Amino acid sequence: MKTIHHRSFLLPSLFTLFFSLSIAGDTLNPNQPLADNETLISSGGRFALGFFSPSNSRNRYIGIWYDEIPIQTIVWVANRENPITESTGGSLSIATNGSLIISTENSTVVWSTAATGLSNPVAQLLDDANFVVKEESSTDSNSFAWQSFDHPTDTLLPGMKLGVDLTSGLNRNLTAWKSSSDPSPGEYCNAMDIDGDPELFLWDGTRKLWRTGPWNGQHFSGIPGTTTYQGFIFSFVNNKEEVTYSYDIVNQSLVSRLVVNESGVLQRSVWLAGNGGWNIFWFAPMDQCDPLSTCGPYGACDPNNSPICECLQGFTPKSPANWELRDGSDGCVRKTKLDCKNGTDGFVTVSRVKLPDTSNCSVDMSMNLDECKAMCLKNCSCTAYAGAIIGGGGSGCIMWLSELTDIRLYTDSGQDLYVRLAAADIAAAQSHGSGHAPIAIIVVLVLVVLLLVCVGFFLWRRKKRRRVMLGATSLSDQNISEEHFEGDDLELPLFELGNVAAATDNFSILNKLGEGGFGPVYKGKLGDGQEIAVKRLAKTSVQGLDEFKNEVVLIAKLQHRNLVRLVGCCIQGEERMLIYEYMVNKSLDAFLFDKEQSALLNWQTRYHIIEGIARGLVYLHQDSRFRIIHRDLKASNVLLDKEMNPKISDFGMARIFGGDETEVNTRRVVGTYGYMSPEYAMDGVFSVKSDVFSFGVLVLEIISGKKNRGVYAHSSHLNLLAHAWSLWNEEKSLQLVDESLGYSFPANEVIKCIKVGLLSVQERPEDRPLMSSVVLMLGSDSAAIPNPRQPGFGTRRVPLEVESSSSKQDSCTLNSMSVTMLQGR
Ligand SMILES: *[C@@H]1O[C@H](CO)[C@@H](O)[C@H](O)[C@H]1NC(C)=O
Ligand SMILES: *[C@@H]1O[C@H](CO)[C@@H](O)[C@H](O)[C@H]1NC(C)=O
Ligand SMILES: *[C@@H]1O[C@H](CO)[C@@H](O)[C@H](O)[C@H]1NC(C)=O
Ligand SMILES: *[C@@H]1O[C@H](CO)[C@@H](O)[C@H](O)[C@H]1NC(C)=O
Ligand SMILES: *[C@@H]1O[C@H](CO)[C@@H](O)[C@H](O)[C@H]1NC(C)=O
Ligand SMILES: *[C@@H]1O[C@H](CO)[C@@H](O)[C@H](O)[C@H]1NC(C)=O
Ligand SMILES: *[C@@H]1O[C@H](CO)[C@@H](O)[C@H](O)[C@H]1NC(C)=O
Ligand SMILES: *[C@@H]1O[C@H](CO)[C@@H](O)[C@H](O)[C@H]1NC(C)=O
Ligand SMILES: *[C@@H]1O[C@H](CO)[C@@H](O)[C@H](O)[C@H]1NC(C)=O
Repeated sequence: MKTIHHRSFLLPSLFTLFFSLSIAGDTLNPNQPLADNETLISSGGRFALGFFSPSNSRNRYIGIWYDEIPIQTIVWVANRENPITESTGGSLSIATNGSLIISTENSTVVWSTAATGLSNPVAQLLDDANFVVKEESSTDSNSFAWQSFDHPTDTLLPGMKLGVDLTSGLNRNLTAWKSSSDPSPGEYCNAMDIDGDPELFLWDGTRKLWRTGPWNGQHFSGIPGTTTYQGFIFSFVNNKEEVTYSYDIVNQSLVSRLVVNESGVLQRSVWLAGNGGWNIFWFAPMDQCDPLSTCGPYGACDPNNSPICECLQGFTPKSPANWELRDGSDGCVRKTKLDCKNGTDGFVTVSRVKLPDTSNCSVDMSMNLDECKAMCLKNCSCTAYAGAIIGGGGSGCIMWLSELTDIRLYTDSGQDLYVRLAAADIAAAQSHGSGHAPIAIIVVLVLVVLLLVCVGFFLWRRKKRRRVMLGATSLSDQNISEEHFEGDDLELPLFELGNVAAATDNFSILNKLGEGGFGPVYKGKLGDGQEIAVKRLAKTSVQGLDEFKNEVVLIAKLQHRNLVRLVGCCIQGEERMLIYEYMVNKSLDAFLFDKEQSALLNWQTRYHIIEGIARGLVYLHQDSRFRIIHRDLKASNVLLDKEMNPKISDFGMARIFGGDETEVNTRRVVGTYGYMSPEYAMDGVFSVKSDVFSFGVLVLEIISGKKNRGVYAHSSHLNLLAHAWSLWNEEKSLQLVDESLGYSFPANEVIKCIKVGLLSVQERPEDRPLMSSVVLMLGSDSAAIPNPRQPGFGTRRVPLEVESSSSKQDSCTLNSMSVTMLQGR
């Protein structure tokens, strides 16, 4: 139900009062009123006009909706604030003086338009949804005595203009409905600001929420994704007569609308008949850098960074204490005052930005960039300049004459901004390269300390473990071949050390793929051409023979397309090696958490990977001959073959459950923080549901492209689970989706996966589904999936949690046996 509800913001309300309608053509003549039970249909059949009632309301309004779409979607309302409240119904008519009139049955006028000077006025619903008043005989399709396009409500349709007509003073803006049952103007409004360099602002009453940035000739500076889809034509007119934005659709069979919805989100939806409704194509505000001036004056916001705010070069936080606590709203101040008189100031280039707020800018379209720079240097209030038009060599000049606010950084779009700095700060910036040296040093220090803590903890663990054997039956604690695999021959080729050495070019450094916790991993090629990955356990390895056998026997017995396949092993003298099939595409984390690589993971691939991991786990948990708990499922343990099929790897910590055991208590907690279920991390209790938890984390990581640690929502410090949960509650789940996916994903499927992910990370193990149910859920409609409750995060702290670092924790596996093999390719 949640999902249906979630999608309902796209869908217009259901209409409680909806009579069978009679059709009255497309034209309204005087003395021929439109009754409550009648509609006008535009000549092409795309739109209808008539009375409707919003959901949960008995009020009657005149509105326009799509006639070609089964879900009634209101695109315009005439009498937003003046409904007919009587049940007797009313009518719409056009007076002989050209005034449109909505009146009740006893002739009380609730809404009307001004009279026109026409002699034979008629009202007509055109096929672009424009409801116009015109001279009956007129064929002029551009000029009307009155048109609904001049009075938009919350929806901008193709061909409509948003903005200001400077000759008539008409200001066309979009104002959200108050609620789904009340179309009267709410607080949220999207309007053109013509001060400085014009841009569109989203308002909440008198507060600015978000801005598009100025138009750069191709798109708004703050909506760089605009040009990735060629199906729309966007236009921006800025001349003496008007400053307007509008769009058109290349293929007229595509249905699209831009709406300010009741929650204050500007969203573009497209109609996908096959997929059951309106699909969100784009929306804003989208991420934590979108709210206006998140990082204050002279601060730059980068949603891919943590923290998201940083000061521009030559600037330092104004309120360092707040800044430390991730509140960047006070912004930054200059390190060195400008020295305008002496003329020693210069500029630094900030690349790939959404240009700062242009409300106070001075714009000169005739200047080029050099002239712009000279002009800025001359004017002591000029703080920065930039080109106004990008592409074609660029042209025009924007000069900022006040603080630079609301700057955000993009990874692969945006334009150059030239910020004025005192000579001293320019020199400092250059000598420090990026100017981030102190931060880099701190980061390195933190990492080193972390590493030491991890190593220390790990040694301590081992020592402790030697003394007390705790916990459940693990393979390493059993006599494997006799108890569990009795009678089974290990049909696993034993390789000669010489052959392995030959295959890996005598363990050449050139063939080294990476270094796991217990020794290096090499790439090799067998005599028959088969590529292999050889995990060579260091002679000093702490992985004992038992653990080695554990992994060998386990993996050898496991045969599933979503588990990595062991090709053989090699035990000779002190040498112990595991030989796996070679995975061309490395591990999932190398794709997921890398800005460039993640673009290669489209939604289909991600979904395929989620399904594959789920199937692999079902096999481990119930379909194989033993109940196996992996205990260290994470992105780096999911390898990808050349068709991007996921393969679960690294069974160094897996446990086999004997007989009817379903849950085991151990004090030897192994695994990777961030993926560990609360009951396991806290109490050492693990069951198949601990793997389900790790799976849930992984699903959310795959969707978001972010690690469980290191995601920060706007003001509070949240991990991925908390972030996903809060978006879910706010019904903004699609904001979780990795930006590199753009808008090309089926919202339904994504929502389904998010739901499954959240269900899998529930606090209580019994609230998490079994992996077999997860597979069923993935195959079904999301409405059939129960709603998740608050996941298990943050309510209890895992022991030894190292809060300060976010990015490196993942690789610090707190266990003696985590061999992250095949990594680093
Ligand atoms: C408004 O749009 C956003 C984003 O598309 C969505 O999350 C929200 O639920 C919508 N609100 C309503 C009331 O439809
Ligand atoms: C519309 O309502 C009027 C008056 O209530 C009635 O006479 C007429 O038959 C209705 N038309 C249709 C098509 O229901
Ligand atoms: C129309 O009817 C309503 C309710 O029936 C009544 O309150 C109102 O006064 C009437 N208006 C006129 C002009 O008769
Ligand atoms: C136009 O005609 C309508 C109906 O006859 C009348 O109520 C209205 O006052 C007229 N408007 C003007 C400006 O004369
Ligand atoms: C939106 O348009 C209305 C009508 O022109 C105007 O009164 C209002 O101030 C505008 N809102 C904004 C935020 O510009
Ligand atoms: C427009 O889109 C429809 C449906 O997607 C398609 O059948 C048609 O060929 C397209 N027309 C053009 C001119 O591309
Ligand atoms: C201009 O430069 C001179 C010499 O470098 C310096 O003494 C003076 O303070 C500067 N003027 C200002 C306003 O900074
Ligand atoms: C524009 O200038 C006014 C007056 O100096 C100031 O209050 C306002 O904050 C400035 N706006 C921006 C976006 O810098
Ligand atoms: C700076 O430029 C702006 C806009 O062109 C102008 O209004 C202002 O007077 C100039 N200030 C100085 C000190 O030249």
